[in-house]
Amino acid sequence: MQSMNDKKRDFETACAAAVKARNFTEAAKAASGAADCAEILASRTAGLVSAAYAKEAASWRDLAKKLEGRKNGSPARNGSVASGEAPADGGEWLVSEKPDVTFDDIAGMEEAKRVIDEMVILPMKAPEKARSLGLAPGGGVLLFGPPGTGKTMLGKAIAGALDAPFFYASGADLRSKWYGESEQRLSQLMNAAKSMPVAVVFLDEIESLLPKRTENSHAADNRVVTQFLSDLGGFKDSKNLLLVLGATNKPWEIDEAVFRTGRFDEKVYIGPPDKAAREKILELNIRGARLADDVSLGDLASAMENASGSDMAAVVSAAKRAALARSIRDDSDPVVTLADFEDARKRIPLSITEEILKPYRDFIEERFGSV
Ligand SMILES: Nc1ncnc2c1ncn2[C@@H]1O[C@H](COP(=O)(O)OP(=O)(O)OP(=O)(O)O)[C@@H](O)[C@H]1O
Ligand SMILES: [Mg+2]
Repeated sequence: MQSMNDKKRDFETACAAAVKARNFTEAAKAASGAADCAEILASRTAGLVSAAYAKEAASWRDLAKKLEGRKNGSPARNGSVASGEAPADGGEWLVSEKPDVTFDDIAGMEEAKRVIDEMVILPMKAPEKARSLGLAPGGGVLLFGPPGTGKTMLGKAIAGALDAPFFYASGADLRSKWYGESEQRLSQLMNAAKSMPVAVVFLDEIESLLPKRTENSHAADNRVVTQFLSDLGGFKDSKNLLLVLGATNKPWEIDEAVFRTGRFDEKVYIGPPDKAAREKILELNIRGARLADDVSLGDLASAMENASGSDMAAVVSAAKRAALARSIRDDSDPVVTLADFEDARKRIPLSITEEILKPYRDFIEERFGSV
């Protein structure tokens, strides 16, 4: 089954292809489609993630409007579609408010959290001590794994845990907003980050930013990858401390060179939640809502073996909405019952299947020689 994120990406690809073919009517339609998907994703998620999707939806709508105003076949201005003013310093990417996600909001991933603490957080917190041991603080970390398993959340929690300016860009966002200028934008972002003594850059959905360069891929895509590699190259030797986090659910679509030493040296697999993590995700999402006596979170967690974290969050929201509707109808206090959870589970398909997991296992085995 195609996930909403995949659908969004299909629209994005269709939009890029239509722009290249100068078919702006089709491109506008695809951009609207991407906006619809982003809106649905915003409604299915919460907090910062939801806000990021809402922002993305707005930028797709904006692009759709711009595209609608273009005549098919007319040449692009400066070779780009989006014609926003480009600030020279890339400062627009600097997120002034730190993400408010913390490690405590994230269920499970104990191993990933430990690795990230040792490899990233501690050396960044005490760079002098790390250097005295010959450890280079900063560097690149790639989080990869199936959709909805909390990679974006974890990236934000890492950024939140570090006392450093935080730059955030999602691949899809960069591409849609600055179509045809992505490499300059990415370069500006990297330069802005490098101009600070310490900085964290989080590139989400990195596969749409750094796709594999092939003979058939578009020259513009290849330029983005080449430019990024040169921006990223040698950053460990520079005086400033830079942490580049990347997140993706399609690591096999990323250009091979991105994985070479000196770039994303650490790769962390974020798998589906285990039973304990699923129970904690239920608890985190239920937060404050009253549950009927017949609800056992342990039993629910056991019964949802094939759920991703975002499936769990969606089931809880749907159950809560049913409870709210009933309480308004009956003029009573809202209480979520087992039947509400069961109905929600029937309506929300769980996304972790063998078919979904296999490509990750193959990728790990092929790249790292073990599973
Ligand atoms: N381990 C987890 N702990 C708590 N909540 C989780 C966890 N995993 C997922 N969630 C819930 O699922 C939502 C989506 O997670 P997130 O966007 O971080 O997934 P992702 O791995 O980045 O997915 P994608 O690959 O589709 O981008 C979160 O907002 C949160 O509600
Ligand atoms: Mg994500």
